[in-house]
Amino acid sequence: MRKLDNQVAIITGGARGQGAEEARRFALEGAAVAICDVLETEGNRLAAEISAAGGHARFFPLDVSSEQRWQTIVSEVVEWRDKITILVNNAGIINQLGVLETSIDEWNRVMNVNITGPFLGIKHVAPIMGRAGGGSIINIASTASHLGVKCAAYVSSKTGLLGLTRTAATELADLGVRVNAICPGVVATDMGSGLSSAEAMRVATPMLRHGTVDDVARLALFLASNDSDYITGTEITIDGGFVAAGAMKLVRHLVNNPKALDVLKAAGL
Ligand SMILES: NC(=O)c1ccc[n+]([C@@H]2O[C@H](COP(=O)([O-])OP(=O)(O)OC[C@H]3O[C@@H](n4cnc5c(N)ncnc54)[C@H](O)[C@@H]3O)[C@@H](O)[C@H]2O)c1
Repeated sequence: MRKLDNQVAIITGGARGQGAEEARRFALEGAAVAICDVLETEGNRLAAEISAAGGHARFFPLDVSSEQRWQTIVSEVVEWRDKITILVNNAGIINQLGVLETSIDEWNRVMNVNITGPFLGIKHVAPIMGRAGGGSIINIASTASHLGVKCAAYVSSKTGLLGLTRTAATELADLGVRVNAICPGVVATDMGSGLSSAEAMRVATPMLRHGTVDDVARLALFLASNDSDYITGTEITIDGGFVAAGAMKLVRHLVNNPKALDVLKAAGL
């Protein structure tokens, strides 16, 4: 018996990066996976890759900020596999702008994807999960949910996502639906590797490496499966100790390697 036999998963932002690895791993563990994304070519290619390896996957075009698209794809996934039992709200975007630099359009753009998207997903998927006897919802937040970083809209959206996680978990327990969040540190994907602070954050991480998509996918599998069946309303940080260390790892490193200050200056920190 595999960990996700007979399960049906929706993964938003599933065409690449962390979402794509979760799609591969969930399919290997027996789930049918609906890969939902705005990237049609990449999403269809991944669905074909998983099917060729003997798994069940299909691509569904979805902009997570559109309520109408959510309603449509929820119906289509139910038509495809009869039920939905796992939802990973993984789609996300970032900008590295402070409060004073963020226009209202840029603020709304990030909020629409990072917090309105998960809200709509939970709203439209949870009742379907309830009909199937329950399910697991996983919201991909960030270590930025715990820190003041100069990414005003991103930090606000990812912090709000923890509030949405708690309130949805409380409300949806009656339906047998668990809701949890994952807070990754820097993960080596298009988003993570593109951050101007990525190298400085690696140096400030006690385990001295960035996370991998595999690290996060294994945690997502745990939260999706019955191995975590008494866990709801909480968040798990996966960051090599970055948040736990606070600034101390970096301070020790700077004391021992004064030249490392250049890395920080180059990152604009
Ligand atoms: N990479 C990191 O360092 C890091 C750290 C902490 C949290 N996260 C979070 O992890 C999640 C996955 O990010 P990633 O690292 O794989 O980055 P990524 O940029 O590789 O993947 C993001 C995916 O979301 C999709 N997406 C963007 N807007 C969308 C929309 N409106 N509708 C549907 N899909 C949309 C993209 O097309 C892409 O496939 C995000 O929520 C991100 O905020 C990333």
